[in-house]
Amino acid sequence: MSQTTTGSELKSLFLLDPSITYLNYGSFGACPREIFEAYQGYQLELEREPVHFITRAGMEYAARSRKELAGYLHCDADDIVWTMNPSYAVNIIAKSFALSPGDEILATDLEYGACDKTWDYYCEKAGAKYRRQKINLPVQDAQQIVEDLFKGFGPRTRLVFVSHLTSSTGMILPVHDIVREAHRRGVPCFVDGAHAPGQIGLDITTLDADMYVGACHKWMLSPKGCSFLYVRRSLQDTIDPLIISWGYKAMFPGPSRFQDYHMVQGTRDYSAFLTVPHCLEFMRKYQWDRVRSHCRAMVRSNATRFFQLLESDPICPIDEEFIAQMLSIPIRCAEPELLYKKLFEKYNIEIPVMRQDDRVYLRYSINAFNQQEDLDRLYDALLEIKKEGQLLEL
Ligand SMILES: Cc1ncc(COP(=O)(O)O)c(C=O)c1O
Repeated sequence: MSQTTTGSELKSLFLLDPSITYLNYGSFGACPREIFEAYQGYQLELEREPVHFITRAGMEYAARSRKELAGYLHCDADDIVWTMNPSYAVNIIAKSFALSPGDEILATDLEYGACDKTWDYYCEKAGAKYRRQKINLPVQDAQQIVEDLFKGFGPRTRLVFVSHLTSSTGMILPVHDIVREAHRRGVPCFVDGAHAPGQIGLDITTLDADMYVGACHKWMLSPKGCSFLYVRRSLQDTIDPLIISWGYKAMFPGPSRFQDYHMVQGTRDYSAFLTVPHCLEFMRKYQWDRVRSHCRAMVRSNATRFFQLLESDPICPIDEEFIAQMLSIPIRCAEPELLYKKLFEKYNIEIPVMRQDDRVYLRYSINAFNQQEDLDRLYDALLEIKKEGQLLEL
């Protein structure tokens, strides 16, 4: 049964430390108590009869959970595999991708740092190039992003890799247009959707990406260690597992080689994977569409005063097309780590201050448990810091 719940009631459903103003859901999501208890329930069941759980019951739960996740993502359950986190999934693809000297992977210059490093590593090993193509900011419209990105396309481009929502900017990229353009030019597209599931609507089949990675432990509310990798059926046999184990030439084959390779990886606690049905039930119960639109409205309605306070300009239109539950404000700050530390230590505000190339961004994330007073607290803290005239160079 669905329930209408106020912001403070929603806050009480989470395990977050109430003394902290938590504005960094984008880095690490927070798991509501009832989902966390379901997770611990699976762990207890595992410890009571490890053999039964790891080889039978847990596998059945995992298959059921994968089916429900696939329903939510609008794809076939056998086309997704569980991974511990998006980094793991990006590594699976980057390591499997057969690159030759001179080949290129085309990405934007707004990708997540750890993914840049992964591609750098495997490209360097193969004598290939990871091209971080500049997206001109401020962005005018979706078309401009596509044009900027494909200026980096060349005869040796083998794959396009882009974020669905970028970590540093919080901006939604026009991935439908990017996938279409990559296909028009005859190359596959891999979308890093770490921030998408649970934050924005997602239909993997309609998107038509060749590979897609998403985290459930950010905006889908699961405990940490729950993510997935989708691979188009026709490409699945080209994808190696990161860990070779019983799933290779499986004695008891599952629905596909893809599933065997990536699911059977030695002893591990996969309880986090099993929590997806609980996350979906939680979102239904608390009318998550309503919660999300309330959060998006709060993100956008506060934007102008933060840009004014920090004497900054938006890097994209502040509307539904580009902004969901995260907003990044470019700031001038020589020592972002000190600003982060001050906001946390003096004001108890958890908010990232991130560098990307020569830019620094302050990014607030809003989820169910946040209320207007959280952003007011951030505003007052920044105002005080601004008056001190040290950390913020305005
Ligand atoms: C866009 C993006 N991709 C990938 C990741 C990697 O996620 P994880 O650290 O959970 O592997 C993140 C993490 O914040 C991210 O923001």
